[in-house]
Amino acid sequence: MSKASVKFAVTRLPDTASIPGICAQLDALSASRWIDRRKQSINRGIRGEVGRYHSAGHRSLPEPLRNSILSLAPNPGGCDLVEFVVNRYEADDFIPRHADIAYSTYFEVLSLQDSESRLRIWDDSGENVMADVQDKLGQVVQIFEPGLIHDVPEVFQRRHVVIFLYQGNPICRPQPQF
Ligand SMILES: [Fe+2]
Repeated sequence: MSKASVKFAVTRLPDTASIPGICAQLDALSASRWIDRRKQSINRGIRGEVGRYHSAGHRSLPEPLRNSILSLAPNPGGCDLVEFVVNRYEADDFIPRHADIAYSTYFEVLSLQDSESRLRIWDDSGENVMADVQDKLGQVVQIFEPGLIHDVPEVFQRRHVVIFLYQGNPICRPQPQF
């Protein structure tokens, strides 16, 4: 497989010790920090569906929590972190099959817990699952192709993930010019 055809990869943070504390701080945040994605910044599915989940951008978090999460950002070479968003799913929440708007050229999804919930990645037709990735604390799903179709089926319990959005792409770095 050539590098350019790699669409995603699954890795894990080397140090996950701070994650339980981060989850406790997220659990304690007031409801006003969270955006209801059924109503605001709706991320529609490929069939126009509306998902059910909440999110909090990094600017809406208290600074100590923001910095704790920032310290987890994998920041691969050749990429500049632009922003991060925390998604919160309660039981039965979901996000439909969708392709994100390409305002970032590379992004990562960091799971903050072990759970039965999953992120699925679909082929270009949106009809066939290419990968079904179950939550693991500290797991990072790297998405190299912003238009890749993915979804989160209905979750079973509260679930937090962090989406790190970058400019630049670790597998499509500009080559040095001589
Ligand atoms: Fe997405």
